[in-house]
Amino acid sequence: MKGILLAGGSGTRLHPMTLVASKQLLPIYDKPMIYYPLSTLMLAGIRDLLVISTPEDLPQFRRLLADGSRFGLNVAYAEQPRPEGIAQAFLIGRDWIAGDPCALALGDNLIHGDHLSALLQDAAGRQRGATVFAYQVRDPERYGVVSFDADGWAAEIVEKPAAPRSNWAVTGLYFYDSRVSDLAREIRPSARGELEITDLNRLYLDEGTLHVERLSRGCAWLDAGTPDSLLQSATFVQTVQSRTGMLVGCPEEVAFRMGYIDAAQLAAHARGLGKTELGRVLLELAEGEHA
Ligand code: TTP
Repeated sequence: MKGILLAGGSGTRLHPMTLVASKQLLPIYDKPMIYYPLSTLMLAGIRDLLVISTPEDLPQFRRLLADGSRFGLNVAYAEQPRPEGIAQAFLIGRDWIAGDPCALALGDNLIHGDHLSALLQDAAGRQRGATVFAYQVRDPERYGVVSFDADGWAAEIVEKPAAPRSNWAVTGLYFYDSRVSDLAREIRPSARGELEITDLNRLYLDEGTLHVERLSRGCAWLDAGTPDSLLQSATFVQTVQSRTGMLVGCPEEVAFRMGYIDAAQLAAHARGLGKTELGRVLLELAEGEHA
């Protein structure tokens, strides 16, 4: 399975920062925002990635991630000239996807929690249909909302409903089968002029192949698109890391644990991080494996 990291958009809710910097490169505590969804895709076992961003910001992503070999990945890049919707990623990426199954992660979403790797790898392994992840929130009207029938099956999915029928929001992480680029061609721009990911998901729902995985309270989902959620995300990462000594959203660590890089490579990257706490933790991890 391949994976797209979508990191364009206008980031208007983070003005003035995003007048001069890409939202998805702003720091969440000790790492650039995009590291978190990148780590999520890596945990699903995905190693071929396409980063999509604006023509202005794409060079910065190239500087940060290069060809991906540092993380044992193959990373390619494509421009989205205008923010014409999340589902447009599958039209922009069509040639690169080349008829393979493909996941999509939004560059400002952080998901962390219990048994997540197993859930992600199950989703990546499904041959037919799509998998989305739902999370209970207090403000569902800001998101795509999924409601369920009496047997617990997904019944309806609506983008930013004025009167939500449930509090289950669809998170910014989606897995699709090999038909995704063709299906994305069928959808038309919404009233706000965007190709809506909810419309793509509804195509799968209508044919009965949309798996909705409900994330439990053992998981955290944050989207860092506003000053408050940016600060909450940073505090979350700081709290978990300093309390447990374990890292959140660190692609070097995931690459090592997944066997994409070895201990010597990890140690070299750790030294490259100089005197940072991140570098110290990664070096410890590498040396532990040497022993
Ligand atoms: P949003 O947060 O909905 O939009 P935005 O990032 O432009 O921010 P704002 O609402 O503050 O103006 O987008 C969700 C994610 O998807 C975010 O990471 C940006 C990305 N995105 C694109 O890359 N291209 C698009 O066309 C859209 C709509 C979103």
